Amino acid sequence: MVEDFIAPLIADSISHGSTSHNIANTQISIRHARQEDLLEILQIERLSCPSPWTFDIFNHFLETPGFLVATTPSENSSVGDILPISNTHPSPIGFIIADVILEDNLPLGHIKDLAVSPHWRKKGVGTFLLSRILHDFRLREIKKVKLEVREGNTTAISLYKKFGFSFHHSSPGYYADGENALVLVSDLLSN
Ligand SMILES: CC(C)(COP(=O)(O)OP(=O)(O)OC[C@H]1O[C@@H](n2cnc3c(N)ncnc32)[C@H](O)[C@@H]1OP(=O)(O)O)[C@@H](O)C(=O)NCCC(=O)NCCS
Repeated sequence: MVEDFIAPLIADSISHGSTSHNIANTQISIRHARQEDLLEILQIERLSCPSPWTFDIFNHFLETPGFLVATTPSENSSVGDILPISNTHPSPIGFIIADVILEDNLPLGHIKDLAVSPHWRKKGVGTFLLSRILHDFRLREIKKVKLEVREGNTTAISLYKKFGFSFHHSSPGYYADGENALVLVSDLLSN
């Protein structure tokens, strides 16, 4: 049951909107994305997506509460006083963007983008980000969530299935390069 998997992640610590969890012997935190994260986020996006979003799109989403980053602690934080800020800034290693839209006059969670730096994949970071956003949706009493995923993206589809997402319909030629999207939906009341 996916709840058994998620609960320890969320219970680990949530304070002032920031969540921490130990992944691969490193304390990973989740917090809202900031302006200074954008270049690293753009880099992760370019390494992850065949039709990457632009800087301006990410900049626009900074106002969205559901734009979250997973970060590692700063390697140089113990000497932070004498180093430039850029050297002490905790680096994003993954991000998620989600918002709430209205469909048939009902609030519907929408996961718009999710990516993890290639170096950090297969360690649970994607799971941590998705768990956190679904937890936030539940707190806001959102009952249903949808997302689009490339039909050939078996890795992401496998992750979403673990969280109870199931096929709803196809969207032919949804992506800029012509690939079809699968629209997946999860009922948060039963998953
Ligand atoms: C999809 C993605 C976000 C997953 O992030 P991640 O941190 O590697 O995921 P996790 O380590 O939490 O893995 C969770 C599950 O995802 C699936 N998964 C992850 N990597 C996989 C792989 N290489 N092959 C098959 N399934 C995989 C598995 O179901 C895995 O569960 P398991 O570890 O119990 O087998 C990451 O691969 C990525 O950034 N891909 C490129 C961008 C992308 O496709 N985004 C989705 C857009 S809709």
